[in-house]
Amino acid sequence: MNIISNCTTSTLADAAKRLLQGNLVAFPTETVYGLGADATNKAAITKLYAAKGRPANHPLIVHISSSVQLNKWATDIPKYAIELTRTFWPGPMTLILPRTELAEDYITGGQKNVGLRVPGNFNTLKLLKIFEAQGGLGVAAPSANRFGKVSPTTAGAVFDELSDYLSIDDLILDGGPCAVGVESTIIDCTKSKPKILRPGAITGEMIKVTTGISIDPIKMILRSHRVVVPGMLQSHYSPKADVILDQFPEPGSGFIALSSFKTPKGVIRLASPVNNIEYARVLYQALRSADLQQINKVFVYIPPGDDIAVAIKDRLLKASK
Ligand code: TXA
Ligand code: MG
Repeated sequence: MNIISNCTTSTLADAAKRLLQGNLVAFPTETVYGLGADATNKAAITKLYAAKGRPANHPLIVHISSSVQLNKWATDIPKYAIELTRTFWPGPMTLILPRTELAEDYITGGQKNVGLRVPGNFNTLKLLKIFEAQGGLGVAAPSANRFGKVSPTTAGAVFDELSDYLSIDDLILDGGPCAVGVESTIIDCTKSKPKILRPGAITGEMIKVTTGISIDPIKMILRSHRVVVPGMLQSHYSPKADVILDQFPEPGSGFIALSSFKTPKGVIRLASPVNNIEYARVLYQALRSADLQQINKVFVYIPPGDDIAVAIKDRLLKASK
């Protein structure tokens, strides 16, 4: 498996060809790196699940180059979902919609709906366009990490996670660090009202402004580190180190907090973001660096706010299991 760091038209065309031939291509998105496979090729998707070590009933997001492709994969699309695509695509938003026959059980985990996203990364959009121009219909891509682990936000992190599981014909495209840093907001659009299944950079308030529909706040309970987020697994996004939330750090442990918090004596500072946007961008790399430095415990102060802080809190609650 090669890492391609100069994403030119010709290297992207080669990557598209590899996808069409049933190989795996890891690519950058604005959220996290994805591990892509042709969403209509069952053998390629089987390889994808094996490389990730992911249970087969766990559905995949299909990535497309624009909302023009939406009708191939989804049907009965509500008006509010169209409004969301117009406002936020390309961008960090995944819509769950009733599926067409194209979205087979091996993509949706047997569910009657499918997750779709137009990612906001220049090179990856170009890759998807070339892929579609050559007859491709969509690229299924989970985050490019082993199942249950921290999502990668750099090509180096993809390599560390997956190099043992990729084959010689697979590729990793290096597009530098991801701008957002946490996975897309997943919005269930199968009912009369949108519902957030996984919080991300597109917030409930932004959805309300766009659609005029108020959505229910996501239920998260920070009590003995238990979290309730519908449809999502409990333990996820976990580094090897124990993640301990909102407690004063012990000497010798790692520490992540907004820069306004001073580093306590004897503690290893892993990140000091100045605001919530930067916090999201650096969080996963900070958790990874704890493992690289063989730090056993990471103390994290959850940032306050109802912006991307909601997504940060969601991931940290799961990482702390
Ligand atoms: O930002 C992202 O969304 C990244 C980049 C690569 O696009 N992708 C990503 O994929 O985070 P993944 O597979 O790691 O997480 C997708 C989540 C899974 O937890 C899955 O259960 C949920 O999306 N999902 C996918 N299709 C679904 C469906 N039809 N119904 C409900 N949940 C779905
Ligand atoms: Mg993931």
